[in-house]
Amino acid sequence: MSPLADRYGRRFPYLRLSIIPACNFRCTYCLPHGYHAEANAAAPLSLPEITRLLRGFTELGMHKLRITGGEPSVRKDLTDILRTAAAVPGITKLAMTTNGTLLSRHLHEWMDAGLNAINVSVDSLDRAAFARITGHDRLDDILHGVDMALAAGLPSVKLNAVLLRDVNDQQLPAWLDYLRDRRIGVRFIELMQTGDNLSFFHDHHVRAETLEAELLAHGWQVLPRAADAGPAREYRHPDYAGRIGIIAPYSKDFCTGCNRLRVTATGDLRLCLFGEFGIPLRPLLQSDDQVEDLVRAIGGQIGRKEQGHFLHEGRTGITPHLASTGG
Ligand code: 5AD
Ligand code: SF4
Repeated sequence: MSPLADRYGRRFPYLRLSIIPACNFRCTYCLPHGYHAEANAAAPLSLPEITRLLRGFTELGMHKLRITGGEPSVRKDLTDILRTAAAVPGITKLAMTTNGTLLSRHLHEWMDAGLNAINVSVDSLDRAAFARITGHDRLDDILHGVDMALAAGLPSVKLNAVLLRDVNDQQLPAWLDYLRDRRIGVRFIELMQTGDNLSFFHDHHVRAETLEAELLAHGWQVLPRAADAGPAREYRHPDYAGRIGIIAPYSKDFCTGCNRLRVTATGDLRLCLFGEFGIPLRPLLQSDDQVEDLVRAIGGQIGRKEQGHFLHEGRTGITPHLASTGG
């Protein structure tokens, strides 16, 4: 089967799979009141369902998988999921996005299972600001886990920081100190509007371009965009071991390089983070002999993927917060 492509010629080697919508943090921009399960919510996909899903996607050309949540480590069988995913033929990059609360405790177990890339959400290097944003005073232990991952030689270690006006948008000096000697990537993400965060968005949205101007003034240089790059703009500086990526969903051409599809914890295919619909795949994950039906179903839906999102018009689709779709 040839790799999947949409009407705009985009291919999708990258799947982001949420394995649980629950999270143990309550980030102000995402779950300010913490996670509350909906009544009668379906259970997340089981390990056999996940395995069948991944076999279907690899037949369509997927080779990079990111496990997301919610917070994936809330799920007790996370290590089994990683081990199973790493063993699916065709998956060559196995990444996870986490808030890092269990990183120092489980890093080696996760690496032994086959994890080779990690993105840890660290919205501020200031302990008090971090606690205010996430609701948990856990910065030191999380940063310790990050340093453990670097020391252990995890091939890709990145931090994510969501830019928030008047909260953490004046903290570049601390980040530069942090990046001087660490081979790590920090990605600054422009706050996105979701169904639940409208007034917060109005108060705290700040354009990433403001930070990019500051970076250029400090001698950072933007790297040419690689053909298979995701939506981040990458910067480097000769005096720094680390790199900076900018994710600016409101910038022109953000969607041109879209190379990913998403599946929610209960098995709904999402063609876009901010799309208006999900496509339930779970009925096609019930036995091993359904893989060809699954592949046909995904292939048949891909033509519905839109050229871009409609965030500029304030249309956030069916995403109440990013914990529901894995960001
Ligand atoms: N806007 C931008 N980034 C967000 N994230 C969660 N919600 C939002 C939002 N509304 C980030 C998290 C995490 C990644 C998965 O997405 O901080 O790093
Ligand atoms: Fe949890 Fe991530 Fe949402 Fe924070 S942003 S509440 S860590 S899912």
